[in-house]
Amino acid sequence: MTDGLKIELGRRYRFSASHRLHSSKLGEEENRRVYGKCNNPHGHGHNYVVEVSVSGTLDPATGMIANLADLDAFVEREVIEPFDHKSLNEDVAVFRENVPTTENICTEIFARLKHFPKAKLERVRVEETGNNTFEYAGEEP
Ligand code: NI
Repeated sequence: MTDGLKIELGRRYRFSASHRLHSSKLGEEENRRVYGKCNNPHGHGHNYVVEVSVSGTLDPATGMIANLADLDAFVEREVIEPFDHKSLNEDVAVFRENVPTTENICTEIFARLKHFPKAKLERVRVEETGNNTFEYAGEEP
């Protein structure tokens, strides 16, 4: 009797992108003070790791909650293609207004993935470096 079992699936993706931390809400001096070398005018890059967790009910026929190929295609289209080897500040519209900190990248990826039709998005975790990870699970309903 596997009907109704709720299972969570985690999948890891990678993209490389450059960014510059600079807020239009702060002055030049304040930007330098807050962001340090991350405020350098020409930016710098990271190899980001994104962990996507979705949940769903086990389908007794397939033995799966969702097809990994469907999730991969969705994440590829919504996140990897628009972000990979891009300048986040210039190439991704939302980051012309919002500073591309990993916090903001994380919530933006969540917003892009929450409409995945085959399973429920539980959480997005973004690793900027081996030392920094950020996690977002959406707003409480
Ligand atoms: Ni950075």
